Amino acid sequence: MTNARKPVVFVTRKLPAPVEARMGELFDTHLNRDDHPLSRDELAAAMQRADVLVPTLTDRIDAGLIEAAGPQLKLIASFANGTDHVDVDAAARRGITVTNTANVLTEDTADMTMALVLAVPRRLAEGARYLANAGPGEWQGWSPTWMLGRRIWGKRIGIVGMGRIGTAVARRARAFGLSVNYHNRKRVSPETEAELEATYWDSLDQMLARVDIVSVNCPSTPATYHLISARRLALLRPEAYIVNTSRGDVIDEEAMIRCLEEDRIAGAGLDVFENEPDINPRLLQLADAGKAVLLPHMGSATLESRIDMGDKVIINIRTFFDGHRPPNRVLP
Ligand code: DGY
Repeated sequence: MTNARKPVVFVTRKLPAPVEARMGELFDTHLNRDDHPLSRDELAAAMQRADVLVPTLTDRIDAGLIEAAGPQLKLIASFANGTDHVDVDAAARRGITVTNTANVLTEDTADMTMALVLAVPRRLAEGARYLANAGPGEWQGWSPTWMLGRRIWGKRIGIVGMGRIGTAVARRARAFGLSVNYHNRKRVSPETEAELEATYWDSLDQMLARVDIVSVNCPSTPATYHLISARRLALLRPEAYIVNTSRGDVIDEEAMIRCLEEDRIAGAGLDVFENEPDINPRLLQLADAGKAVLLPHMGSATLESRIDMGDKVIINIRTFFDGHRPPNRVLP
């Protein structure tokens, strides 16, 4: 960085130790040592003093906060891939640059998606829970008719959103013998379609009506809010499963819960929820009944991904203060 003065950087949550150490060397860094989610007042105060705010997806950086920020705030270098928690339009109006951590959590998130694709039909959570709760000698052993799930191999997956993560899910799905279908705003290249033997569906409705497993991998934007609506959920076959590792609000959660309760779909694997971290108690009941596998937003939760995300944040800040366009700039 060319500046003599180190930029004042506020980090809203605890980050992996090597990332915090590196940031401490490079910037005038203010850390959140006890990792408590910051209140709106605390965020507002940080935005009065910081040159750079490093929020995570648990901070809602809305237009009100951005408009009230001090004139020194130049960069919101988010420690997240998704940018739905930052009002990017409001930031642009104030001349504040926004960056994210795209690319580095693709493979881990795709792994977690695939884990849910397997976990729900093959009843992994139920089986693990059974043994964890079984008293000594309770399990009587293998049985021809016990814990029967549904086969994955040979089924059709329908990927909603064929960006980096969707494509990485498609590669894994192919390896597990699923046939790949996808819906995306733009068709992927003919080479990628050929590699994945993927079928493109211009009509999301038509794809939903035909696949066995739906995987939601598109970002949360105003255009994708409740993309998987009550009407579209009704198109799914009763044997279909739905998996979401993107953002909860892409699915109309209330409508999905009704479908699961009424056995209009077979099950759901969810890493994200509409009112995170509040979880609808009816979803917890569905998990108890074996109709849902619920994870606490763990898609990118590997040490490697989180360190890589931190490195991205650092590169974005350094590049910005060197007077260049940061590599992960998010445009409104
Ligand atoms: C992100 O960064 O957007 C991911 O959801 C974190 O897992």
